[in-house]
Amino acid sequence: MIGAMFLYNGFLVLKLCAFVEAWKAMCSSGGSNKTLLIPSDNTFLLQPLVFQGPCNSPSVQIQLDGKIVAPLNKAAWSGLKSYEWVSFHKIIGLTVLGSGTINGRGSSFWEANMPASKRPTQLHFKGCNNLEINGITSFDSPRNHISIRDCRQVKITQIKLIAPGDSPNTDGIDISTSTNVEIYDTIVGTGDDCVALNSGSININITRMQCGPGHGISVGSLGRDGEESIVENVQVTNCTFSETTNGARIKTWPNGKGYARNIVFKDITLTETKNPIIIDQHYMDKGHIHVEESSAVAISNVIFTDIHGTSQKDEIIKIDCSGVTSCKDIVLDKIDITTVDGNKPIIECSNAYGKSTNAYDGCLKTQ
Ligand SMILES: *[C@@H]1O[C@H](CO)[C@@H](O)[C@H](O)[C@H]1NC(C)=O
Ligand SMILES: *[C@@H]1O[C@H](CO)[C@@H](O)[C@H](O)[C@H]1NC(C)=O
Ligand SMILES: *[C@@H]1O[C@H](CO)[C@@H](O)[C@H](O)[C@H]1NC(C)=O
Repeated sequence: MIGAMFLYNGFLVLKLCAFVEAWKAMCSSGGSNKTLLIPSDNTFLLQPLVFQGPCNSPSVQIQLDGKIVAPLNKAAWSGLKSYEWVSFHKIIGLTVLGSGTINGRGSSFWEANMPASKRPTQLHFKGCNNLEINGITSFDSPRNHISIRDCRQVKITQIKLIAPGDSPNTDGIDISTSTNVEIYDTIVGTGDDCVALNSGSININITRMQCGPGHGISVGSLGRDGEESIVENVQVTNCTFSETTNGARIKTWPNGKGYARNIVFKDITLTETKNPIIIDQHYMDKGHIHVEESSAVAISNVIFTDIHGTSQKDEIIKIDCSGVTSCKDIVLDKIDITTVDGNKPIIECSNAYGKSTNAYDGCLKTQ
């Protein structure tokens, strides 16, 4: 396998698909500034692969300039035990950068109507602190494009995540149990949430994301099957939602525990968004039956400010909170949304306390 790569200017250059050998050689050698180069003008067919850390070097780079593709048909995928295509485990100081592309060619999975849990995530990062992802483009993931789990200090910039608007469960970026994540100057057009902030997402900033098509930027869903979920300190600023089915959304299941608090959606531009502002505390997947609600993930201090543009539906704001916990300290400020058909916008609040500083007085109850 060693013959399949050579060193050039300190780069480990791959000629064939010797990714694992190249990775092991780089990861186990000491020193800093180690780079594994996936060169441009090449296309690499890649089966499921784990880049395993920790490495001996305090910082390692994977420079993706070429093209990585998955087998065209799901039947040709091998070793798909963990339902991840390319995963990165416990690598400290990892940077994945470059102008290259990674294409999961997910249509055979989408067409088979498989449950999401049986389809692979495109790029899975687990236990990676000081992680940077920059410049790359991801196409047609079988499930979500990127998942970030158990990571600290993450910076994701200038990436593009693309899949058809009707491709199932192709979230852009899924975050769980991770802190200090910055995402900025990105383009996400896909078939599900542009970003989903799941339980344990703490200190997350999303800035200048162009989202659409897709389901918007969502906190949740949280509290499924009575789970205790915590999400806090989230800022979504200067983002656009173009023809998305939702804009700024928080969704929790009945009977969950924990909280979602200190969440800001600010400076948002909507173009024909279907449900621009939503808090839904009665969220359930299809097929679940309604049970009496005895608890809920508590929602507080959520600010929607400077949100403007057009809505495809007349109902521009829906704040539907739990009768058990109620939502507290909700702010609706500088909202200027018109409906595509010219109808008067409809605003609906239930069990929600807070203040609105322009229109829509009376929807939120004052404390
Ligand atoms: C590592 O790379 C950076 C940026 O390219 C450079 O500034 C630094 O001197 C390099 N360090 C070593 C030890 O080569
Ligand atoms: C998010 O932005 C705020 C300021 O707007 C800043 O104080 C905070 O450190 C940022 N968090 C991250 C993870 O970048
Ligand atoms: C908002 O984003 C646009 C581009 O998407 C940029 O031109 C503008 O400077 C940004 N404003 C702020 C305050 O970040």
